[in-house]
Order: sequence, then structure tokens, then C-alpha cells
Amino acid sequence: MNIVILAAGQGKRMHSDHPKVLHPLAGKPLLGHVLDTARKLAAGRICVVYGHGGEQVRETLAAADLAWARQAPQLGTGHAVMQALPHLDPSAPTLVLYGDVPLIRAETLDRLMKVSDGGTLALLTVQFANPRGYGRIVRADGQVVRIVEEKDADDAERAIDEVNTGILVAPTSALARWLPGLGNRNAQGEYYLTDIVALAVAEGMVVEAVQPAHAWEVEGVNSKAQLAALERIHQRNIAEALMEQGVGLADPARIDVRGELVCGRDVFIDVNCVFEGRVELGDGTTIGPNCVIQGAAVGPRCIIGPFARLRPGTVLGQDVHIGNFVEVKNSTIADHSKANHLAYIGDATIGSRVNVGAGTITCNYDGANKFRTIIEDDVFIGSDTQLVAPVTVGRGATLGAGTTLTRDAPSEQLTISRTRQTTVPGWTRPTKQPRKD
Ligand code: UD1
Ligand code: CA
Repeated sequence: MNIVILAAGQGKRMHSDHPKVLHPLAGKPLLGHVLDTARKLAAGRICVVYGHGGEQVRETLAAADLAWARQAPQLGTGHAVMQALPHLDPSAPTLVLYGDVPLIRAETLDRLMKVSDGGTLALLTVQFANPRGYGRIVRADGQVVRIVEEKDADDAERAIDEVNTGILVAPTSALARWLPGLGNRNAQGEYYLTDIVALAVAEGMVVEAVQPAHAWEVEGVNSKAQLAALERIHQRNIAEALMEQGVGLADPARIDVRGELVCGRDVFIDVNCVFEGRVELGDGTTIGPNCVIQGAAVGPRCIIGPFARLRPGTVLGQDVHIGNFVEVKNSTIADHSKANHLAYIGDATIGSRVNVGAGTITCNYDGANKFRTIIEDDVFIGSDTQLVAPVTVGRGATLGAGTTLTRDAPSEQLTISRTRQTTVPGWTRPTKQPRKD
């Protein structure tokens, strides 16, 4: 099978300097979602038709399995598919997708392919209570006979509520026959892909129509408001899939997954958590409210948050506690260790049963280079400690509160760096001077 993805449109209504198909949904460009689905279908050839801001699109989504067809100027959807023709295998059917319709499911496309069976034109259509703006599916005696665009339709045609999603499958040899014959004498002066329906019917072909299981599968993005609406639908779908697997969510409307979230059994996630990149949460782990977790592997029975931030490269063992206003980056923290309040742990290797006191900071950056901090098993780090890396705290060591550690701390001993406490004899608080005026 060939897949053509139309992505040349400008997306004026986004009011943005970025090409529409690069706007992110769940952290991934719209076109990236369509490409992922296309790849699930094991297509022989995937050809992206690009135009406006196209070089940026090509650079962002470059991959060896993609062909790129430039459409400039953009003279309509029929003209767009024509630009892809030279890249397609004429012996296999062609599926047309839109780069700005990100949530189409592979299962739906499989059904469309089956109905087309490589031999006929098959359209994905949907019934909309408000069909405004869409091409209408005109039927005679129940059979699809043509598509009329809103701007070309008469009142009776505008009353039709079955609309064209734009997604279709056609024999590629037939596309090669039909597309060069398209005209542009219509309300928009464009070469309409939709006109191939009447051409197919004129040849005696039976044009099939298939409906998606969910309307959101065929919803496109033309504005920031539509993008936000689709984001909510997508997040709700992800939340439902997580709950289906047994993940506990305090509120399925208040979780954002912008990547891959892999959860063990009995994971619980409280409200307003954002997950980015690939995140793993082990069995029995609890994520408190308002956490941001990116690219982290969290072991079993951990307690994270509220208000924790785990950044890429965080690897936590089992029963690790990361509390409020604690940031962890590129660090490993072994079993039963705790950093419960107000800390920065960056580029560190922390052993088991370590207690990181409130206000502890690994000073990992000297303004030019990053260095590692190593904290061995059973260390106790007093509050408000700075560990100036590179530095190692030996097994079982204790650091006194307020220490600025610049050299390694030996095992099993108390290390402390702090000016001695003194009390100034006879000192009195200043008092307010009477005003002289
Ligand atoms: C198109 C369909 C309409 C359908 C609607 C569904 C035609 C003539 N009309 O209308 O029946 O109901 O989609 O959303 O096909 N594109 C290009 N090059 C072009 C023009 C468009 O690549 O020259 C791409 C756009 O980037 C977009 C897609 O094709 O991804 C659809 O274009 P758009 O202008 O949104 O089509 P509509 O007029 O909405
Ligand atoms: Ca559109």
C-alpha cells in the first residue's frame, strides 16, 4: 500500500510562524501522530506532500522511510495528490491522509482498506449534526455518486449531513488516470480531489463509504482552539487506557501524558501531573499532586510529590521518597533513600537508605562543566548542605546541617563546615531614632 499525507496547507487560522502540522499534540507534532499511524499500517511507501514552511517540516520529521513531494503553489487537494504520484507504486492502492487530522486510528483505516479491497474507491465519511464547511456526500438510490464542496453546493446539498472526512483509498492506477483530468472551474478555483468520486462513478465503479467509530478520529486542526479541544480528547483517551490497565487516577481529566507512560500494578496518580518522554512507574508507586516527570524510571513502592520534578536520566530504586520542591536530574537514587523537602539532586549517584535533608543542593555546575556527586549507602545529609561536585560522601557518613562540602567526606564520621556559634555579650537591638524636623 502507498500512503499520501497532505500537509501543504498554510494553516492561516493558527496565527503562527510555525507550520500547522508541526504544532504539538501531546508533545508530538500533529504530522508525527499521522506518521506513527501510517507506519502501523505497514505501508510500502509513505509520501508527505509539503508546501508552506516545508523545509522545517522535512527537517523536523526526516526519516529514511519517507518520500517528500513539494507542492508549490498549492492549487488544491487533487493537485496535491498529483505531486505525490511519481513516488507511488502503481500496482498498490493509495491511502490519502491529512497531516492535520492526528487522531485517526489504524483500525478504522484497516476497515477502509478492506472495503476498497485494492480495486475500488473507498471514502471515510461521517454524519455531523452541523456539517458546515465540509464537502457533502451526494447519494442516489443509496449509492455515493459525487462529493460537492460547501462553497459549490445548493441548498438541498447543504442540507446533507453525511460529510467527506477527506480520508480515502483508491487504486493508484485509477488516480493516475483521473487526476490529470481534474478541472478547477469551481467556487474556489482549485483542483478538488473530491471530484474523482464522480469520475469513478462515470466509469461504473461502486464507490464505498466507511464510518469511523468515533467522530474525534476525523477532526482536523485549523485553529488553536481546535488543537486544545483535540488535546483534551486525546488526553482523556490516554487516561481511560491507563485506568483500563489498572492505574488509579484521582481525576482522569487532570493528567497530561506527552510521551509514553508505562505503569506497573497499583500505581496511583493524583491530580495535575505532567509526564513527558518515556516514564516508567513501578508497582505500588504513588505520584502526589502537581508533579512534572520527564524521562524517568521510578521503581516500585516509591512516593513522589506533591510538587516534585523528575527530569531526564532519573532512575529511582524501590521505596524511594521524593517530596515537595525536590528536583532530580540525571541521577540514580537507590532503595529506601529519601529526599523529602526542597532539594536539587543533579548528576548524582546516591546509595541505599540515604537521607537527604531539606535544602540540600548538589552544586554540579561550575559555569562551564558539570561534575558528579557520589553519596554512598547509609549517609545522612543534614539540612541546607551544599555538595560541591566532584565530591564523594563515604558510606555511613554524616554531614552536619549547613555544610558546604568541597572535599570528600570519610565513611562513618561526622563532617561539618560551619562557623562556630557565638553569642555576642552585651549586644542590643537597634532602636528607632526620633525624627528631627
Ligand atoms: C477538504 C475536502 C472536503 C472535506 C474536508 C475535510 C477537497 C476539495 N475538499 O476541504 O470535502 O470535507 O477537506 O476536512 O478536498 N492541502 C494540500 N494542498 C492543497 C490544499 C490542501 O496539501 O493545495 C492539504 C491541507 O494541508 C489539509 C488537507 O489538504 O491537510 C485539506 O485541505 P483543506 O484546505 O483543509 O480542505 P478543505 O477545503 O477543508
Ligand atoms: Ca480543513
